[in-house]
Amino acid sequence: MKPVLGIPDQDLQEITMLLNTLLADEYFLYTKTRNAHWNVEGPNFYELHKLFDTQIHELDEIIDDIAERVRSLGHFALGSLKDFQSVTHMTEDNHSFDKANSIIHTLVNDHEIIVRIIRNDIVPISEKYKDLGTADFVTGIMEQHEKIAWMLRSSLD
Ligand SMILES: [Fe+2]
Repeated sequence: MKPVLGIPDQDLQEITMLLNTLLADEYFLYTKTRNAHWNVEGPNFYELHKLFDTQIHELDEIIDDIAERVRSLGHFALGSLKDFQSVTHMTEDNHSFDKANSIIHTLVNDHEIIVRIIRNDIVPISEKYKDLGTADFVTGIMEQHEKIAWMLRSSLD
């Protein structure tokens, strides 16, 4: 049974495409943060290992919330690595993924990419599609990424 939410079908299609792309981006960043948690080395190993673990759990919740938002809007969430790879904006340039500073730089950059993508998406979601629920939802996610980026930036040598 289709939801009747006051948003035209075509708009729901486009909104959920934006959300599924964000889901893919988050999944890539989640995997990179796991990589960081496992492989970081350096004098601050234990602190960073724990910091990355906290961020893994935050990203896991974000991922689940985005997928369930897509379902709430009557569409299917992407659910395979192949599908995520086909739509993501993220790259997997993991060179020097053992040096703490290099890892942190990469992760800050990725969180900021997502912040900018969401900031751009908010405009059509709220103004063109008038979906204030999703606009509010992604605004909250953007703020979470801004905070995580700050935590990482402050951990740089
Ligand atoms: Fe662990």
